Amino acid sequence: MEEMEYHNPVLLKETVDGLAIKPDGTYVDVTFGGGGHSSEILKRLGPEGKLFAFDQDKDALENAIDDDRFTLINENFRFIKRFLRFYGVRKVDGILGDFGVSSHQFDVADRGFSTRFEADLDMRMNQSGEISAYHVINEYDESDLRVMFLQYGELRNAPKLARAIVGARKEESLKTSVELKEVLKPFLPKHKEHKILAQIYQAIRIEVNQEIEALKEFLIQTTGLLDTKGRISLISYHSLEDRLVKRFIRSGMFEGEPEKDLYGNVSVPFKKVGGLIVPGEEEIKENNRARSAKLRIAEKI
Ligand SMILES: C[S@@+](CC[C@H](N)C(=O)[O-])C[C@H]1O[C@@H](n2cnc3c(N)ncnc32)[C@H](O)[C@@H]1O
Repeated sequence: MEEMEYHNPVLLKETVDGLAIKPDGTYVDVTFGGGGHSSEILKRLGPEGKLFAFDQDKDALENAIDDDRFTLINENFRFIKRFLRFYGVRKVDGILGDFGVSSHQFDVADRGFSTRFEADLDMRMNQSGEISAYHVINEYDESDLRVMFLQYGELRNAPKLARAIVGARKEESLKTSVELKEVLKPFLPKHKEHKILAQIYQAIRIEVNQEIEALKEFLIQTTGLLDTKGRISLISYHSLEDRLVKRFIRSGMFEGEPEKDLYGNVSVPFKKVGGLIVPGEEEIKENNRARSAKLRIAEKI
């Protein structure tokens, strides 16, 4: 059987250009995956440069790059500061993030990420994570399921979906994607079946992996880690994620506005570099998974 590509990097040039790499700098790729972005960073680093990468999925370790300047850390990026400190790193020149799920995670049926396959309810990026899709679907209160579908899936019929799941699991717990799909079937309109199911899966995945909490904790640490003029180059794939990144770049906060001093000046940690970057038609044609990507770049003040 032909081996499938682990992941095709999105906005490769634009994202790495965004870091304005200094050959002797120290960089971090917090979402290593198949290592596409990391390889490009290494190409632009000189012999004194350093690259640290994170991925919480142990499958990504197979892609580790054999290079003295490179270190791969099999941990969640929400602990970025702690693990960099372990390697004696307190300041860095740039951080790249390409959030969400890799093609590999979608393509391996038994990981449970894809609507295409029959699988146990799992969806953990970290295979030893405590919360799985089984846990969310069978243990969460109806109100928690409702909020999850509303916030992470932007599903208007979230209350109905939550009620149907709670009703169905009373009989017997839902163990597989097939059992879950059977419960969801009445809520999947014929011409939009795939789209709605994908939104439902996305909501469950974000919850299972605590993606919003991890993103916020990570972003907060970037301001302390980056040297002056250090860069962040971040790709998001859904609106909630992109909104957090955008607000954080603008104000160093996720909500509200920063306070002004006596003279009416606000102190913010970043300066925006350019505007929003999205893939062109050509890239989307070649790599459909690029279609929802949004890249934002900023420089530490
Ligand atoms: C979209 S892929 C990145 C692909 C990569 N840029 C490449 O070129 O191959 C996202 C990767 O980040 C990892 N990931 C997502 N959230 C993470 C987190 N909070 N901590 C560590 N790794 C995470 C996933 O396991 C996945 O491998």
